[in-house]
Amino acid sequence: MLNLDPALYVDPAVLPRERDTIFTRTWQLLGPVSQVKDRGQYVAADLAGAKVFVVRGRDGQLRGFRNVCRHRGAKLLEEGTGRCATIRCPYHQWVFDDTGRLVTAPWFGDDPDFNPADWPLEPIHVAEWRGLLFAAISPETDLTTQLGELIAELADEPIETYQAAATDRVVFDANWKVYTDNFVEGYHIPGVHHAFFAAIEFEQFKTTAHKGFIRMTAPPRDGLFYRGKWLWMWPNWTLSLFEGGMNTSRINPLAFDRTEQIYHFYFADTSEATASKRASTIAGNLAVVREDYEVCVATHKNYMSGGYSSGPLSPRHEQGVHYFQNKVKEALAV
Ligand code: FES
Ligand SMILES: [Fe+2]
Repeated sequence: MLNLDPALYVDPAVLPRERDTIFTRTWQLLGPVSQVKDRGQYVAADLAGAKVFVVRGRDGQLRGFRNVCRHRGAKLLEEGTGRCATIRCPYHQWVFDDTGRLVTAPWFGDDPDFNPADWPLEPIHVAEWRGLLFAAISPETDLTTQLGELIAELADEPIETYQAAATDRVVFDANWKVYTDNFVEGYHIPGVHHAFFAAIEFEQFKTTAHKGFIRMTAPPRDGLFYRGKWLWMWPNWTLSLFEGGMNTSRINPLAFDRTEQIYHFYFADTSEATASKRASTIAGNLAVVREDYEVCVATHKNYMSGGYSSGPLSPRHEQGVHYFQNKVKEALAV
């Protein structure tokens, strides 16, 4: 069991292939569906370079579109969340409604062949699952098939009752697979996360791969905010359980050597009385992941240097790495 060929992390030609074979064909987590609870609310996101948005229309329907103007291809909405009645392109002011229809193309001039009905926004797919919002450009399966055994794994967790209370976004200079390799193993905990290591029973750390997801568990010691279960789902999202809540994240490549991770934190109790406890859970979580970014950036540089060739993976701790890397190899047909 060998680590993936470092060329697949540092060759810029690989990301366009991953975009075609992984990111456009799978459901991508956009976070809590509460972001688009009200009519006119939207969330705009980058999916491995593809710009998309999901909006709740005046009729209450959720719809998704490419965030690409049909005129000359400008970006319509800035990434993030917001509210709009209509969507006005910032470039030449074409206006689309919340069903994607082109309403007006001001100052366009007379062209008998131009019919606004021919130029609606390009739709994408949208799905909800237990309070979470997903989008897909050309999904090869439905969302529940992609989620696989995760559905049973979380059946007893009341995840849709949690309120999304905070979000965060981190950008770092490493390939998205370097970070994913890191997320799906606990082998690095003794070396990289000293406080976290002291807070779990590391000898009992277990990693198992299932259809669609990887589960990592370890009994927490007293006082740790984590519940001792961390999940990673194909191809690029995570869910970690806290006492009375959870976080989710999406690991998104911005370039072959640059990755963003978008977090949402959810809690059962979002009252004022527990605000400081929530803040310390979020800070504790981000402190742990910050330790990972440093090691990932340094690892990526070593892959870039040509000074690394694939080493062996631990059968005890790196089954998840192996599972993820095999899925990537399958997608890329390498
Ligand atoms: S690109 Fe949008 S109006 Fe021209
Ligand atoms: Fe880590």
